[in-house]
Amino acid sequence: MRDVAVIGVGCTTFGEKWGTSFRNLFVEAGGMAIEDAGISGEKIDALYVGNMSAGRFIDQEHIGALIADYSGLASTHTPSTRVESACCSGGLAFRQAVIAVASGMEDIVVAGGVEKMTDVDTPTSVDALAAAADREWEGFVGATFPGLYAMIATDYMNRYSLTRDQLAQVAVKNHYNGARNPIAQFQHEISIDTVINSSLVADPLRLFDCSPITDGAAAVILAPLERAHEFTDTPIKVLATAQASDTIALHDRRDISTMDATVAAGDRAFKMAKIGRQDIDLVEVHDCFTIAEICAIEDLGFCKKGEAGKLTEEGVTALNGKLPVNTSGGLKACGHPVGATGIKQVWEVVQQLRGEAGRRQIDGAEIGMTQNVGGTGASVAVHILGRV
Ligand code: COA
Repeated sequence: MRDVAVIGVGCTTFGEKWGTSFRNLFVEAGGMAIEDAGISGEKIDALYVGNMSAGRFIDQEHIGALIADYSGLASTHTPSTRVESACCSGGLAFRQAVIAVASGMEDIVVAGGVEKMTDVDTPTSVDALAAAADREWEGFVGATFPGLYAMIATDYMNRYSLTRDQLAQVAVKNHYNGARNPIAQFQHEISIDTVINSSLVADPLRLFDCSPITDGAAAVILAPLERAHEFTDTPIKVLATAQASDTIALHDRRDISTMDATVAAGDRAFKMAKIGRQDIDLVEVHDCFTIAEICAIEDLGFCKKGEAGKLTEEGVTALNGKLPVNTSGGLKACGHPVGATGIKQVWEVVQQLRGEAGRRQIDGAEIGMTQNVGGTGASVAVHILGRV
């Protein structure tokens, strides 16, 4: 296999983007990535586009072709493939692009993600998202994603030491970081009181424990590492790509407070990168709900089960902490356009490793990690990236 590098990145602002169409969102992010890499469109050998549910959200399928067409790549007949794995679609689009370049099959490949969720009302959006759970055993009996993650939070809080304030601190930290990220949907800081006094969504999760419903797109460009310096002085090497699966229904899991797919993908990624937990300078995790960040920190092996709440309270995961988590603001503050999130995570890590993260820049970051989750953990993608 060949070594692979990221040579360009782009991301739209995230939010309620009623003035921009789905196709234009992707073209905007792709254009930024192309400009960043200093390449022209005809150099692109292939596209992989993460998208969860354009059929439900904007009544459009055949997304690979649509994106190729509106990116100006129909005339060159460039191959374009949609990748779907619920909220993990972006992470898996990135992984497919990495595999295409590593294998030697393609040289310059775009990995993107896009979702336009706000053209439908909240109940329709919540139901479209619920299609990523087990419809027969979960959706039909009324379980939504806030409901399923509330069950995880309840189980976790019964078995481990996690206070309501510690859980709220995840959102407070991520809003602090999001307030320093120009693409974030919510760019305002909040307090613990904001979280615990916000309206109840699914007990114990409140509004500010949830990621919002969001429009947005992100794109990155990959090349073989040996060619990366043709395009950029700051290529970022893909040190590991890993993926794992689990049961789609939460009740079939060995332990609902541990995402075994995160454990497996994390272990595989560390093995592939040949590094240890102590080598990671920052990690973007899938905080679709505050409890998900707590579980992710533990399941990736950064601390023992039951300790992530205390780490968060002590500031270990803060921007200036020993292990900054979700420097972008995470899904909580950036927003969560489901197909785009996994690519936005890579965008953030690349910006941090290049030293281009502005007011949220952490000092001297060399190696960063991303963890992107589909559903309640039935599919997980983990990537590790490093400076060359
Ligand atoms: N955090 C903070 N504020 C939020 C928010 C969130 N998650 N979601 C909405 N808001 C704010 C809006 O900005 C708006 O503020 P304003 O009145 O000052 O403009 C207000 O709350 C009402 O927004 P609205 O869009 O009407 O919220 P909603 O009730 O339609 O949606 C949720 C709220 C929690 C139901 C929705 O965000 C949700 O379902 N989130 C989870 C998404 C999800 O499951 N993703 C997949 C994860 S696996």
